[in-house]
Amino acid sequence: MMYKIAVIPGDGTGPEVVDEGLKVLDAAAGRFGFKYETATFDFGGERYLKSGETLPSGAVEELRAFNAIYLGAIGHPKVKPGVLEQGILLKLRFDLDQYINLRPVKLFPGVETPIAGKGPADIDFVVVRENTEGLYAGAGGTLRRGTPGEVAIQESINTRAGVERCVRYAFDFCRKRNKKKQLTLCGKTNVLTYAFDLWERTFHEVAAEYADIETNYAHVDAICMWMVKNPEWFDVIVTDNMFGDIITDLGAMIQGGMGIAAGANINPSGTSMFEPIGGSAPKYTGKGVINPLAAICACQMMLEFLGEPEAGARIEEAVVTIIRDHLKGMNAGEMGFATSEVGDLVAKLVAE
Ligand code: IPM
Ligand code: MN
Repeated sequence: MMYKIAVIPGDGTGPEVVDEGLKVLDAAAGRFGFKYETATFDFGGERYLKSGETLPSGAVEELRAFNAIYLGAIGHPKVKPGVLEQGILLKLRFDLDQYINLRPVKLFPGVETPIAGKGPADIDFVVVRENTEGLYAGAGGTLRRGTPGEVAIQESINTRAGVERCVRYAFDFCRKRNKKKQLTLCGKTNVLTYAFDLWERTFHEVAAEYADIETNYAHVDAICMWMVKNPEWFDVIVTDNMFGDIITDLGAMIQGGMGIAAGANINPSGTSMFEPIGGSAPKYTGKGVINPLAAICACQMMLEFLGEPEAGARIEEAVVTIIRDHLKGMNAGEMGFATSEVGDLVAKLVAE
């Protein structure tokens, strides 16, 4: 099998961490005997500042021809917030219909969590975030902008089809994961009585087809509390786009920080996109201090999704070993190793 992988290194430290992920990809290909080719796209802040263009026309069509997209980070200090996010990251998620944002929250042994008394056995769950609707859909508008009578409306779009495909994915994923087999719906049924009424009914209707999965429900504010107090309660959490965005940053912190957190934007029957979730960290750009493990774990997710589970498992094992042997107690920016040294260590282990 020949995998065609589109690489978007992007802004800030994106290119540095993507380089390390590609080293590991190459090591995995050698070790597990699959072939791949990459094409690099220069989408991001620099290109925008030069050309005024976020994604050139035809880019989405071009990307559709790839088996996967490997993304570093999008976000540039000289570009107004929202332009690159909407013009590149969200546009790709929407136009490629990557309707699932899958974010594992897993504490690897040796990584420090800020939660006292909890360890790797307690922090191991996955958030399934809806990735194409909700408050992110861009519905709403503004009236009398800049005047004292200004009105701003931002609406959450929830469609039965969109919610159902997300919920179904979560049930299937929970079954395949085969751990506690417990799926938690995260919502706000006590206040968002239209949107989460739809989510709740859909959740229960779909649940009837999955007798082997135990279900429960929690409000998003309570989830935030329990993710800190009792993270061991969770197996898989399914939620809407906005809540998913928020709780996965909380999740990233309890699993040891942005240096380790990876995510996948998935279209199960199209082109999916894999990224470290940490952002472009402009102040660290070019210093070689940023932790590439999140990007390496994104590469792992990409290989698992492409159908190379052994390569994926090997990468995770290598990451765990490197943390144990070299990076104990690490947190982002304080590894004691250069970005490229960490990539070399993981790649070497994967290749063995
Ligand atoms: C994320 C990011 C994005 C989001 C931003 C950059 C638009 O925070 O991937 O979680 O809100 O989805
Ligand atoms: Mn986010």
